[in-house]
Amino acid sequence: MKGDIGDATLVSQIFAQEQIDTVVHFAAESHVDRSITGPAEFVQTNIFGTFNILEAAREAWLKEPSGKPSGTDCRFLHVSTDEVYGSLGETGAFQETTPYDPRSPYSASKASSDHLVSSYYHTYGLPTLITNCSNNYGPYQFPEKLIPLIINNALQGRPLPVYGDGKNVRDWLYVVDHCEAILTVLQHGKIGETYNIGGNSEKQNIEVVHTICDILDEKVGLLPGDRARRSLITYVKDRAGHDRRYAIDATKIRTNLGWHPRVNFADGMHRTVEWYLDNKAWIASVTDGSYREYYEKMYGNR
Ligand code: TYD
Repeated sequence: MKGDIGDATLVSQIFAQEQIDTVVHFAAESHVDRSITGPAEFVQTNIFGTFNILEAAREAWLKEPSGKPSGTDCRFLHVSTDEVYGSLGETGAFQETTPYDPRSPYSASKASSDHLVSSYYHTYGLPTLITNCSNNYGPYQFPEKLIPLIINNALQGRPLPVYGDGKNVRDWLYVVDHCEAILTVLQHGKIGETYNIGGNSEKQNIEVVHTICDILDEKVGLLPGDRARRSLITYVKDRAGHDRRYAIDATKIRTNLGWHPRVNFADGMHRTVEWYLDNKAWIASVTDGSYREYYEKMYGNR
């Protein structure tokens, strides 16, 4: 079914009609830049939307006519982000016990939804799990995010916008590794707990952009006039409140559940660029009128 989690009636109808015992809650507004220009949708979808699913699950799982909880075999997994922990300096890494310190409307909305999920565990006994992951990349990522945006622009010979000094650091997690981690937590995680999921691949943004340029130069050849794609790099105005560095300490999921990322950054980037080269029709279909409007608004005067 395709629907809006902001629609409480629809969400509870789905729970009433289907025998749902497992929720893996991925639905969210996820782009920091969009949250800066339009925070309302983030509050609506990420906070109220999560609340609606929690309420529907509570109704379906914990309010049997007999009054006997039926939720023992159920699972509610909330997929969240490392951005709830704030920004790191040169050293250190986020652990599950790191205090929340969200700094963008996006991360504040995810922090809020995490708190709601955990309150439903403590207050009602809803069988919840929370995962906080680092930056994902891989197939089908919408080209508002750094990696697909740079691949798309570099293919078209357009400027590659790098915010600030390009030295902000993200810990890159290949999407298939993330999916495996989520499945592991769903099947083996301890109810009520949080698990951090990281890619063990910290990179400065400029390194990421260089990697994409070099892979494309090698795979599809240089730009006209024998120009390397690195020449397209354009430093632009920094993001407001730009978090400097994120890094995940994934010791808990590794030691308790045996998960670790299997795809290293170089390999993951080759696979990702390859996927975008093989799926140009998909990129064209998602970079239509509304994307062009978004791009103009975000990058036009930067
Ligand atoms: P992004 O993919 O938006 O993820 P997040 O903000 O959740 O980490 O951005 C990743 C990094 O890349 C972040 O430090 C901002 C930077 N960035 C650019 O330098 N240029 C861009 O055009 C975009 C979209 C992001």
